[in-house]
Amino acid sequence: MGRRCWRRRVLAAACLGAAFLLLCAAPRCLRPAFGNRALGSSWLGGERRSPLQKLYDLDQDPRSTLAKVHRQRRDLLSSACSRHTRRQRLLQPEDLRHVLVDDAHGLLYCYVPKVACTNWKRVLLALSGQARGDPRAIPAQEAHAPGRLPSLADFSPAEINRRLRAYLAFLFVREPFERLASAYRNKLARPYSAAFQRRFGARIVQRLRPRALPDARARGHDVRFAEFLAYLLDPRTRREEPFNEHWERAHALCHPCRLRYDVVGKFETLAEDAAFVLELAGAPGLSFPGPPRPRGAAASRDLAARLFQDISPFYQRRLFDLYKMDFLLFNYSAPSYLRLH
Ligand SMILES: *[C@@H]1O[C@H](CO)[C@@H](O)[C@H](O)[C@H]1NC(C)=O
Repeated sequence: MGRRCWRRRVLAAACLGAAFLLLCAAPRCLRPAFGNRALGSSWLGGERRSPLQKLYDLDQDPRSTLAKVHRQRRDLLSSACSRHTRRQRLLQPEDLRHVLVDDAHGLLYCYVPKVACTNWKRVLLALSGQARGDPRAIPAQEAHAPGRLPSLADFSPAEINRRLRAYLAFLFVREPFERLASAYRNKLARPYSAAFQRRFGARIVQRLRPRALPDARARGHDVRFAEFLAYLLDPRTRREEPFNEHWERAHALCHPCRLRYDVVGKFETLAEDAAFVLELAGAPGLSFPGPPRPRGAAASRDLAARLFQDISPFYQRRLFDLYKMDFLLFNYSAPSYLRLH
């Protein structure tokens, strides 16, 4: 029995090894395949140009200013990756949990919470025909329901690689501290996320607040921004489990130095960038849900500036170091309200 068991383990190890190899064959070095025949052959959409092929066509057209913007973002990402990343561990299918798949249109979308991801999920549901009519009408819980949209992690390595080669991959990012401020406000400061407060807020209070009142220890409803940041910087936090996706760094969710992203959309230019992706997807008629509030961008900046003003320069610097890769890879500069020196 010992021997059979051992053989099975060797077999399992060999399979895993194969999976690693396959996945590591899929990173950005595939970029030269962009638009060639090999790519056409793994697209199952028939005569239609795939979104990736359409992007390739646009890239050849010097008049397309949007294509140029996106090419520059890709180039910046790729040079930042080569400058700032060292040898990395190999990707496993589980690392691709955040990459959602639309087989009908040939799209891969890596979702980053707090960057319009509910609306992107709504749009993908509408695209896939799972929801009729206006994407805005799809309830948020339905958009987030597990399994509604397949994830790349659900496929075999060969199936993953085929999609990575042939599909248009995109993600949307946001200024890291504005995203963090938004996560704090929505998940910890607002009264409506009681579940989140009990799960994370209570832990933060118990661990970091001396002489906390029993009510706060149980409900975690009054966590201050400084306490939240101290929790993020506490080495125990990430030793226990990975950061929750609402505050995990975008590069750790989407692996932009390992996977080829064709479009890097930004929250700051959400409407244009979303329209660009939908045009490539062959769904220009579908309109991306607009921002819930006018002045969204300014409000988001003000909230971050207000929250960070009470944070000591020491903590600001350490937090900047924690989120530095997201600043560098996606071309965000250190916000002017920080006191880093
Ligand atoms: C990077 O950011 C700077 C400053 O905001 C901007 O001028 C430049 O065009 C950006 N580059 C890319 C490739 O987006």
